[in-house]
Amino acid sequence: MKKDLLNLLDLPSDDITLILDTADMLKSEQKSDKKHDFPSGKTLAMIFAKSSTRTRVSFEVGIFQLGGQGIFLSNADSQLGRGEPIADTARVLSRYCDCIMIRTFDQSEVEALAEHATIPVINGLTDFEHPCQVLADIMTIREHKGQLEGLKACWIGDGNNVANSMIVGCLKCGMDVSVACPEGYRPDKQILDFAHSATTGKFELTDKPEIAAQGADVIFTDVWASMGQESETQKRQKAFTGYQVNDEIMALANPGCMIQHCLPAHKGEEITEKVFEAHAQEIFDEAENRLHVQKAIMYLLMKNK
Ligand code: CP
Ligand code: NVA
Repeated sequence: MKKDLLNLLDLPSDDITLILDTADMLKSEQKSDKKHDFPSGKTLAMIFAKSSTRTRVSFEVGIFQLGGQGIFLSNADSQLGRGEPIADTARVLSRYCDCIMIRTFDQSEVEALAEHATIPVINGLTDFEHPCQVLADIMTIREHKGQLEGLKACWIGDGNNVANSMIVGCLKCGMDVSVACPEGYRPDKQILDFAHSATTGKFELTDKPEIAAQGADVIFTDVWASMGQESETQKRQKAFTGYQVNDEIMALANPGCMIQHCLPAHKGEEITEKVFEAHAQEIFDEAENRLHVQKAIMYLLMKNK
């Protein structure tokens, strides 16, 4: 593994497999109360420029279960919020801590932090990608379906950070990917360039949810307005009308089709309450797997340091 985990675009397929296998191992150790083979006393700085429930709790619990300690830093309460440069923050935290997790807006901030830190940096969500989320999703699909290769994954809704990671992660794992987004809300160009040239799975982009959902084994969706886009909520509600995961969409998918939603969900918008509740087991397994996959990432990045 490289020093940092900044996005799935740069993560080799073999590293994805290594993370998934390590997550399965750590999950099984934790369920059987077995001690993890990991040096104690490691510290994780967790920088949040955006809100979080799952990412904060799963990283903090995760480092604790590995015998270490998490340190929460909100932008507002730290000197970052008063303009201290990322490069200086990186060099300071590298003197105290063993790893940094950061959730922020621009991917370039995460890249800059990694460049100036001598310790590993993990992307806990940017406007560009949400790699930890999608690794947890892929772990959940593998658990439920027993395999990844040859499955069809479908995205319906906004071509956002989670969509970007989902497209790359699923294709790298040998899944076919179909994406339905309205024009103007498509995934990032770099992601589409990767997807169109991928050799491990087929990729399809459409503006018709009913085409994307045909024969799907797993359907993903997410909110129509992400963090930082709150002022566009009304405009987006209009643009995404017809992009709801509902019974009609599910009827087009394969029998046993799973749902993955990173949460929080806006039920009645991107997904009906009925479909959400019918698939609650998979969706909350997905939330749980954030813990196991992030422990695996920290384990692999810090174990030999
Ligand atoms: N899915 C996810 O990242 O949730 P939080 O925003 O609660 O961390
Ligand atoms: N796309 C959402 C994901 C939240 C976990 C956002 O960025 O707000």
